[in-house]
Amino acid sequence: MVKKITVVGAGNVGATTAQRVAEKELARTVVLVDVVEGIPQGKGLDQWQSAPIEGYDSRIIGTNGYDETAGSEIVIITAGIARKPGMSRDDLLNTNAGIVKSVSEQIAKTSPDAIVIVVSNPLDVMCYVAKEATHFPRERVIGMAGVLDTARYRAFLAEALDVSVRDIQAMVLGGHGDTMVPLISYTSVSGIPVTQLMDAATLNAIVDRTRNGGAEIVKYLKTGSAYYAPSAGAVQMAEAIVNDQKRILPCAAWLQGEYGLRDLFLGVPCKLGRKGLEQVIEVQLTADERTALEKSAQAVREPMSAVKL
Ligand code: LAC
Repeated sequence: MVKKITVVGAGNVGATTAQRVAEKELARTVVLVDVVEGIPQGKGLDQWQSAPIEGYDSRIIGTNGYDETAGSEIVIITAGIARKPGMSRDDLLNTNAGIVKSVSEQIAKTSPDAIVIVVSNPLDVMCYVAKEATHFPRERVIGMAGVLDTARYRAFLAEALDVSVRDIQAMVLGGHGDTMVPLISYTSVSGIPVTQLMDAATLNAIVDRTRNGGAEIVKYLKTGSAYYAPSAGAVQMAEAIVNDQKRILPCAAWLQGEYGLRDLFLGVPCKLGRKGLEQVIEVQLTADERTALEKSAQAVREPMSAVKL
């Protein structure tokens, strides 16, 4: 357990994240921040009142300012507007860049040693905005997308194969968008390559559904995007950091030559521990996977160069 974790944004993703952090007792104090008056206070109070029932001692408080967040070890940024049907994550670019920039500046002042987990979309570019605005080293600015995309892929595979989700090992790399790269060559069921258990057509359909996993949910919800799985993804990363688990999870990391790429955030296998991003792990890719990763990098560079910092 750390002393304090702050969650910025008290919308569906942020509020659910705060609740999951508290239920896992990852921090003594969980601070929920939002600019909307009353919402973080109300949701925080409601969550705190669930503590005696659920039996956790994490104290949740809601606030509109950053004083209460001071000295947070981890800050999870979920602030920003969400997608509506027909919108791509890139449509959110400049609105969310402004929000993430101002949030990041506040965090750098009040929690200069924090590890920042970015969840706001378009994810890879928002990580860049957070890194630029905080001036934190790459070890302390990490994006949550690969865990979510991989969870969707694993859930669909488990369903199709009628096996436990626990036994599906997989990794989805690349940007958090249509160009994401599910690594079929590293997908296994308790070590058995998935290609031995499933025909190519079924597997390709699952890969496609994974790529559109976020949009499928936006289409159902109409007024917003997914939040149960995104919050679970962010909290899995926070847990790996708090408990120094050295977990290997696909996360958006600032690349410095790994995979032949430099100066952008992209989803790659990362080792997470108490120092944050402790290692970017380079795995061998097939020629097709490498081409797909490069294409995905290009799809991140375009909005990155358009963003106003
Ligand atoms: C999704 C959004 C949150 O993938 O990016 O559901």
